Parts: sequence; C-alpha cells; structure tokens
Amino acid sequence: MKILYNLEELEIAKNEYKQKSIAFVPTMGALHAGHLSLIDRANSVAENVIVSIFVNPLQFGPNEDFSKYPRDIDRDINLLKSKKVDYLFCPNFTKDELLKIKQISAEPELANILCGKFRKGHFDGVVTIVNYFFELIEPDYAIFGEKDYQQLKIIEAMVNNLSLNIKILAAPILREASGLAMSSRNVYLNQSSRLKADEIYKNLSSISEEIRSREEIQGIINSYKEKFINSGFELDYLEYHWSRIFIAARIDGVRLIDNMPA
Ligand code: PAJ
Repeated sequence: MKILYNLEELEIAKNEYKQKSIAFVPTMGALHAGHLSLIDRANSVAENVIVSIFVNPLQFGPNEDFSKYPRDIDRDINLLKSKKVDYLFCPNFTKDELLKIKQISAEPELANILCGKFRKGHFDGVVTIVNYFFELIEPDYAIFGEKDYQQLKIIEAMVNNLSLNIKILAAPILREASGLAMSSRNVYLNQSSRLKADEIYKNLSSISEEIRSREEIQGIINSYKEKFINSGFELDYLEYHWSRIFIAARIDGVRLIDNMPA
C-alpha cells in the first residue's frame, strides 16, 4: 500500500495507475469492519483500490464533533494493510486550500429532509469534498455504505447532475453481533449507552415487520417514537422514505443514525 500525503504524491500515483480500473472508498478514518467491507467490494470490481482518510471540516457544523472525531492513522494504516489496498490518500489540507475548493450544493430535495434538517450545510460539505476527490482521483467506481443512505442518494444525484463518469456502488450496513450498526462514533458510547443503543436495531426490525404486515405507517411510527422517547432517547427523526425506515437518535449525547428496508 502506497501512502499519499499530498497532491504531488497523488499525481505520481495517478501516472502509475492510469491504465488500471480504479475503485475509490472515501472515509474519515477510525476504520471498522464496515469500512473494510467497502474495500472488499472495491476489490471485486476494479484492479486497483484507493482509500481516502480525511476528516472533512466542511461537513461538520460549529457545534458538532469535528475536533473530537476519533483519529488514529497508525491503527487505520494497520487495518488497511490487512486488505488489498493499493493507495491510501490522506491529505492534510490547510484551511486556505480547503477554501479554494469548488463549492458544490447537494440536491435540495434530498438534502432538506432527515439529517439535512438537523445538520445545516452538512451535505453541501460532503458533496464538495467528494466531488473534489473525484476530480483529483478520477476513479471508475466509488463505494458508499447504506449506513449513510441519504448521503448515498445525494452522491448518486450529484454524479447524475454533473454527468460524472463514475459508477456509484452501494454496500450493505455492517452490524455488531447485537445488531448495532457499526460506526466510528460508537467509540463515544459507554457500556450502558451501548446497551441502550442496541434497542435501535431491535425497534427498527419490529417497525419494518409491522410496516410490511399493516398499512398505517404513520401510526406504527408514532407508537415507536413514544417507545424510543420513553426509554431515554432524544429523537431527531423516525421517518419512512424510499421504502426504508430511518432514525437519528441521541443517547447520552451521542448521535447515532440507522436505517433498514421496511
Ligand atoms: P465515514 O463516516 O468514515 O464513512 C465512510 C463510508 O463508510 C461511507 O460510505 C459510510 O456509509 C460507510 N460506512 C460507515 N459505517 C458503515 C457500516 N456499518 N456498514 C457499511 N458501510 C459503512 O461517510 C463519510 O465518512 C464521509 O461523509 C465521506 C463520504 C468520507 C465524505 O467526507
């Protein structure tokens, strides 16, 4: 695995890989098995795999966890070495360099619902950095997890709107044995909040089953909203879109998201 720390090193790598098919896996690091499953998917479609690790300040709000977001590049590099990864791009952009990036807006219809309502500007920050990385790396494929389903939809729309020649592939959500969706932010959970977090998967599974067997979706959702709130969750949303049930909830100050077909 070659590690590329800046644009000059990426340029040299591009000369090496320009004849190869490339699958790109963008991440913010603090890697877990969910991220590694995207790398497996990348290897199944392309000759070379590029992973990026960049904690993108553009997608964090002023009161969000940018400064305390988990960072451990040495651990991440070791995990990546357990897979076939040809290049790791982990740039260290200065504020000035970031400000020079072409700003992209996320499709409003997709970005104004769910997380977009609670994280103003978040998806603009995501598409701006992802489009920039697409321009720099010029991959044939890019892999995104269904864990961030709204993000996946927004990236698909961006690729469509900008007529980019990149195939977006979706990868299923990897979960802990308890059902908890793997997330870099799970390290914020203590033992008791982790146990509580397991209720998310249990309840989403029940909601999904109930929606499949009954008609009145909103009634089902309302009763589970109450259930979540009664067991101490602060709910941002519990909503049905794209034949899936979506949740964003805070447990002891930690914001978790999940979704599943319903
Ligand atoms: P990050 O949260 O690090 O996630 C990187 C990729 O891993 C995303 O596509 C995400 O959906 C996927 N992922 C996370 N947890 C997963 C799980 N449990 N199962 C399957 N896939 C999972 O998403 C971002 O970073 C950023 O917004 C980024 C796209 C890198 C732009 O900065």
